[in-house]
Amino acid sequence: MKNIVLFASGSGSNVENIIKYFEHKPQVSIACVLTNKRDAKVIDRCNKLKINCLYFNKTAFSKSDCILKILEALQPDLIVLAGFLLKIPQSLVKKYPNKIINIHPSLLPKFGGKGMYGKYVHEAVKEQKEVETGITIHYVNEKYDDGAILFQAKTELLPADSVEVIAKKVGELEYAHFPEVIEKLLDS
Ligand code: GRF
Repeated sequence: MKNIVLFASGSGSNVENIIKYFEHKPQVSIACVLTNKRDAKVIDRCNKLKINCLYFNKTAFSKSDCILKILEALQPDLIVLAGFLLKIPQSLVKKYPNKIINIHPSLLPKFGGKGMYGKYVHEAVKEQKEVETGITIHYVNEKYDDGAILFQAKTELLPADSVEVIAKKVGELEYAHFPEVIEKLLDS
């Protein structure tokens, strides 16, 4: 049995997609979802799907070993950031080398870094008149969106594509590929 721990800060549509993907795969368990937002929609999704979800505040995350202790108890084989907006503290990166992955909604190294998340990424892609965009799944290190790239997938863009259309195209790639990349990593 392999354990996954997910971190999310927002809507949690990727979290829901991952939970549903592994629902009928007994070899993989979603041990817990951790969130730093008390009112995040991901909490409702977890309640509906009957998956444990824990809220923690920023201080608990960056200035104490509270999360380390929780993770020690959960014994994750993989830690997955799915729309998680806080920087991962060095202590965590050190404790779980090559065990923390993140999904970013652009073709890194383009449109990454601090402040580049969600619609801000898609707005910048539109502004720069990109002819393609995509997703990047990468290992996590101490810097934003900087670790070794594991997987990328692309989608074409049309000049008329709005920010919402770009977001939808990227979302479709995320739902299609993220669970499979996780599964392959757990198998490797
Ligand atoms: C996704 O686009 C993901 O790539 C990014 O944040 C978004 C999260 O969306 N890191 P959701 O919370 O999974 O709906």
